[in-house]
Amino acid sequence: MFSLPNNVTIIEVGPRDGLQNENNMVSTKDKLIFIHELQESGIKEMEITSFVSPKWVPQMSDAAEIVELVEKQGRQLVLTPNAKGVDRAIEVGARSVAVFVGVSNSFNQKNINKTTAESMQGLKPVIDQLKQQGIFVRACISTAFYCPFEGKIDPEDTLALCKEFADWGVDELSVADTIGMANPQESYDLFSQLNSEIPNVLMTAHFHDTRKMGLANIYAALQAGISRFDTSAGGLGGCPFAPGATGNVATEDVVNMLHRMGITTGIDLDLLCKAIANIALCVSRPIDTGMFRLYQVHN
Ligand code: HMG
Ligand code: MG
Repeated sequence: MFSLPNNVTIIEVGPRDGLQNENNMVSTKDKLIFIHELQESGIKEMEITSFVSPKWVPQMSDAAEIVELVEKQGRQLVLTPNAKGVDRAIEVGARSVAVFVGVSNSFNQKNINKTTAESMQGLKPVIDQLKQQGIFVRACISTAFYCPFEGKIDPEDTLALCKEFADWGVDELSVADTIGMANPQESYDLFSQLNSEIPNVLMTAHFHDTRKMGLANIYAALQAGISRFDTSAGGLGGCPFAPGATGNVATEDVVNMLHRMGITTGIDLDLLCKAIANIALCVSRPIDTGMFRLYQVHN
């Protein structure tokens, strides 16, 4: 048996990655209830919204209200692609910011309208400014394994981008399988390399579950020494600019797997499913994850 961690940190991304791709416009009030109920279930780190162009992603146009009105608890991350997003976030008091960029140029162009190099050039002064203000900075690395337009990504390119962010002093890297195409061997290999070559940054794995390999990829990443995972309650979401990508691996299924392996998360599964039951009433797609289905049978 490999040596696995005793505790895992779940970074809940449902309110952001989950709802950004939702057909219905979920009201600010319902989003705030969702975030509150997720907090009540024991989640301590969460992406609560994103400061992106409301023309590109109308679902996130209430970002300022969310940050202003949310109950301040734990680490509340907001996603921003550029200086304008960071300025908007800081103006309303955000203290933890996630920037994002794709390893693949084609994906980055579709997602942010810039090449990867142009994005990086713009982000360097932004990160310097955030660090000077004592703000927690996370860098999200999209298409770390595969790109919907370019196919397989060279792990060395992912590693180089992660190292650049680490050199700039980011606190966390969230390394993403944007289209849910990585397999457990690839997860193990990349995260082993990242963990050994970038030891001083919090290393988080972000798996989408398009091909139902999310749990297997998490198990492989655990073996590679990763103990932080981005997950989405109800398996909601996906990136609107990554064709075919579905939601993140479901928080409730990940928490169940970990608990059954004797790994703690601090999350109460029943309370988590209660939060999902309420947001399920606001979203267009049916939520049909393993643990949520069981919860519905028993409640
Ligand atoms: P653009 O059209 O090239 O922007 O979009 P621009 O710089 O030319 O500006 C055009 C207008 O947008 C201007 O306003 C700007 O002020 C405004 P106007 O003068 O026309 O009135 N603008 C903004 N407004 C609000 N917030 C901002 C902002 N920036 C410019 N931050 C832009 C470029 C980056 C804005 C656009 O492409 C965009 O918003 N993209 C975001 C796409 C997105 O949200 N994708 C999903 C999140 S990433 C993800 O899901 C992946 C992840 O989960 C990991 C994984 O799974 O891979 C993190
Ligand atoms: Mg994502």
